[in-house]
Amino acid sequence: MGADRLLLSSRIARTRISASALAAQRSRELRAQGVDVIELAQGEPDFNTPEHVIEAATRAMREGQTHYTQVDGTPALKAAIIAKFKRENGLEFKPENVSAGAGGKQILHNVLMATLDPGDEVVIPAPSWVAYADIAHYAGGTAVWVPTRPEDGFKLRAEALEAAITPRTKWLMLNSPSNPSGAVYSAAELGALVPVLERHPQVWTISDDIYEHVLFDGRAFATLAAVAPQLAGRVFTVNGVSKTYAMTGWRLGFGAGPAELVRAMARLQAQSSLNPSSVSQAAAAAALNGPQDIVRERCAIFQARRDALVARLKAVPGLACERPHGAFYVYVSCAGWLGRKTPQGKVLGTDADVTAWLLEAAHLALPNGAGYGLSPYFRVSFAAEQAQLERACERLAAAARTLS
Ligand SMILES: Cc1ncc(COP(=O)(O)O)c(C=O)c1O
Repeated sequence: MGADRLLLSSRIARTRISASALAAQRSRELRAQGVDVIELAQGEPDFNTPEHVIEAATRAMREGQTHYTQVDGTPALKAAIIAKFKRENGLEFKPENVSAGAGGKQILHNVLMATLDPGDEVVIPAPSWVAYADIAHYAGGTAVWVPTRPEDGFKLRAEALEAAITPRTKWLMLNSPSNPSGAVYSAAELGALVPVLERHPQVWTISDDIYEHVLFDGRAFATLAAVAPQLAGRVFTVNGVSKTYAMTGWRLGFGAGPAELVRAMARLQAQSSLNPSSVSQAAAAAALNGPQDIVRERCAIFQARRDALVARLKAVPGLACERPHGAFYVYVSCAGWLGRKTPQGKVLGTDADVTAWLLEAAHLALPNGAGYGLSPYFRVSFAAEQAQLERACERLAAAARTLS
């Protein structure tokens, strides 16, 4: 049934469907037609939630933890989050500094909705996860993309940050390890941004640490609030259990920062979803408090896949990529394919042309770089079985051979 003169809000008009969601949708359509599509668009570990977490959730349900809870997290979950920040990041928080919601995404949404007014700017290094700009726009603010360079490892330089800041800048988004580039900031690289942030007291920073534990080659993890305690009064650190513990479907994320902001976020969440699922909160507490060896074991699997995948991608004519230092994505330059002609007679002009062609002709579903703010690239997720990654690279190589 069609809608009868439904007038949608301007807020909805500002909210796009992400490139990865579009790629996933089109690949589902092709699959429904019987086409063997390889989809490497997913942003979630292909592992199961650890068994002890599932047991803790089952126990919680049996014990009657099936009711409403405190809006932004039970005391037990907040205690587990506080202990995690202390143990892993050396950060000290109290319960009033901590907020739990239905995923890191809801936490980011709450932060931006609670703080942005029309005209307020959010500085987003490009490439970055597409949701930052969309949530900023939805919240009424303006996304200011700042391109980074492959020769800088896709990391924001202090001069570029300085040039992007205006009196209306309210937030800087930092995400390390990064989706989609796999860039990882060392403590020294974060430290280089600190003098700029000190010069501009109106600028707050969101440190999105969701891929903290998907970190390769023995690198040490660094986060801004720990590197620059003098900025902690205007840093909000976001994390969650989705990527670390393969718990994307449980919808549990958290963040910590100044209490005034946390209170405002709880006011918002009280008028939307209220508390995150009581069962997921019990599960997340068990994940954070429990044994962590499985996290390291899975990270080693991701690293082995990365090595095999990067070697194969580098061998495909016309493609180029950096070796990601964390997260489970490779950001692949397809500049060498632009201007080339497909067997179907189309000249590839943009990365959107490239991914559309790969989906229709090679049955490979990949999100294009434009959505992440930096072209011409596409993103390959290696949160997938090794055999599937190999088949995908064979299809890429075969596709490259058909270009003239
Ligand atoms: C960079 C980044 N931050 C945050 C999230 C949010 O994850 P979740 O809402 O599952 O906690 C994602 C998920 O893809 C992400 O890629």
